Amino acid sequence: MKIRKATEDDTEVLMDIWEKSEYNKKSVAKMKLAIDMSMRFSENYLVLNPNPIGNFVITNKRDITYLNYINLIKSKQGKGFGKKMLEDVIKIAKENKSKKIQLAVWAKNFRAILLYTKFGFYVSGFKRKFDKELGKKLVMEKMV
Ligand SMILES: CC(C)(COP(=O)(O)OP(=O)(O)OC[C@H]1O[C@@H](n2cnc3c(N)ncnc32)[C@H](O)[C@@H]1OP(=O)(O)O)[C@@H](O)C(=O)NCCC(=O)NCCS
Repeated sequence: MKIRKATEDDTEVLMDIWEKSEYNKKSVAKMKLAIDMSMRFSENYLVLNPNPIGNFVITNKRDITYLNYINLIKSKQGKGFGKKMLEDVIKIAKENKSKKIQLAVWAKNFRAILLYTKFGFYVSGFKRKFDKELGKKLVMEKMV
């Protein structure tokens, strides 16, 4: 598995990953806008094995690295790639001299929460958001 920073030329690839993840589906226009914003204001990393299988988005602000988004295509989920991606996120946070990594996750996204706790993330708060199916949105963080 390799990672590289995504560029505007990867927009179609990122949209394809989003669709194939079958997670948090949005309209084409909303997906395009979110991807465009992620490349302007954050760092969007493409995950290759050897073809594109996922991506993650991080933002570095002062001494915190925010993991804004992490996603794999459905056929590659549950095969250990998520763990490798998180290792890369931690490596990037260390390179950026961040003190902690923070993220938000729906309370019923058990797989993601299990993954984060395996890496030492703990719940540090809650967002105001609430979804009937997904529950509350938890804030999780980990010191780097
Ligand atoms: C969340 C996501 C990135 C995790 O990556 P992954 O490659 O599927 O996870 P891994 O195979 O690395 O597994 C990591 C841990 O998750 C848990 N896990 C994996 N598959 C699981 C399943 N089907 N059910 C419950 N927990 C599961 C296990 O604790 C596993 O650790 P283990 O293998 O030591 O038991 C990926 O599933 C994904 O893209 N999901 C859709 C998008 C999403 O939910 N993003 C997170 C938003 S906050």
